[in-house]
Amino acid sequence: MKFDVSRQRIEAASAIVAGGVNSAFRSGIRPHPLVFAEADGAILTDVDGNRLVDYFLGMGPMLLGHRPAPVVDAVRAQLDRSILVAGQTDLEYAAARLLTELVPSAELVRFSVSGSEAVQAALRVARAATGRSTVLKFEGHYHGWFDNVMWSVSPTLEEAGPAEAPVPVASSLGQQPAVDLAVLPWNDADLVRQRLARGDVAAVIMEPVMFNNAGILPLPGYLEAVREACDASGTLLIFDEVITGFRIGPGGAQQEFGVTPDLTVLGKALANGFPVAAVVGKRSYMDLVADRVVHGGTYNTQSVAMAATLATLTEIASGRPYETIGPVGTALMEGLRKEFADAGVEVRIVGYPAVFQVRFGTVRPRDYREALQADRAAYVDFAADLLHHGVRVLPRGTWFVSTSHGDHVDATLSAVHDVLKGSR
Ligand SMILES: Cc1ncc(COP(=O)(O)O)c(C=O)c1O
Repeated sequence: MKFDVSRQRIEAASAIVAGGVNSAFRSGIRPHPLVFAEADGAILTDVDGNRLVDYFLGMGPMLLGHRPAPVVDAVRAQLDRSILVAGQTDLEYAAARLLTELVPSAELVRFSVSGSEAVQAALRVARAATGRSTVLKFEGHYHGWFDNVMWSVSPTLEEAGPAEAPVPVASSLGQQPAVDLAVLPWNDADLVRQRLARGDVAAVIMEPVMFNNAGILPLPGYLEAVREACDASGTLLIFDEVITGFRIGPGGAQQEFGVTPDLTVLGKALANGFPVAAVVGKRSYMDLVADRVVHGGTYNTQSVAMAATLATLTEIASGRPYETIGPVGTALMEGLRKEFADAGVEVRIVGYPAVFQVRFGTVRPRDYREALQADRAAYVDFAADLLHHGVRVLPRGTWFVSTSHGDHVDATLSAVHDVLKGSR
């Protein structure tokens, strides 16, 4: 497969768009960022005319695949009614009601546009509720691109300092210094207990299953222990379920593990590709947003996006997406394990049918530091080779699966087979 037209477009566009892309996370990809013409179901068509089986899925949102009929129909119908009203519509109330039925911690809801913003709203609520300012986050976890949280997302071991007292590491030039921020390795309950005992932490924020850097499950009892430590110290627990929400299941990681946070951040699969996120949580805390904690946004609950949200949540609430993806994702994980085993490649595949992680090497990491021992460079090579066989996977190892992937599992496995055989 050739990607020459994409390359030419990116080179030409770099004269008018910084780096030729509109998000940092779309650059640095091999062979170069791609330009797409169309997307349908599980397939992307690029400007070279290549048809690619897509496991990026928009970085996670497209749970129902690209352009699924229920969402497209709802959006088309809404375009004849309203786009943005700077007021309320019945759509957002219906969508909010579904959220309260699906997500255990969701007693009250506020919609935003992006996950990054919804994280900021959650932190503001936590600070207002506790009167404290420090936020505790974990190495390797990503909570959006804003200055106060984009710390220690992918530091080197040298930068990160000792595990008992990590040094916060900035992710960008120009980032404001770390203010009111504590950073720890994940999956070590003792470290959390010790830090919270000081009584100055407003909130602990985490991805309840870490998918942004490695794909690591919480150790048995870890989430419960952090919940207890938060309760004992008057600290709010925030689950950032922007990835895990609606992918692990309709109620996210909190339902899967039976641990209910005080606040939850949702995004991505919530609206199947439309820019919608939410902060939800216990009434006693979220009530502050109805009062003196400010949360705003011109585009919050834009009508078309809300039509997409309601259509997506209605599908999710029916359970049908999970019935479809369950066997497909499982067959894919099993097929991959077999292909790698046959080729003598050591691999670990962890996660769920709709989102899992493929990692080269034998390491079973419990945190970001240990995950650095995996053979990440070899996986980046594998992902680049797989693209030439018509399968687009994230170089960091996360695979997102949609309801449309059923017909593409065989082609995916045969592409993997060919890559492992070394043919192009
Ligand atoms: C766990 C998590 N939180 C927050 C965000 C930020 O969401 P957004 O990109 O919509 O701002 C992301 C984005 O990838 C994420 O994965």
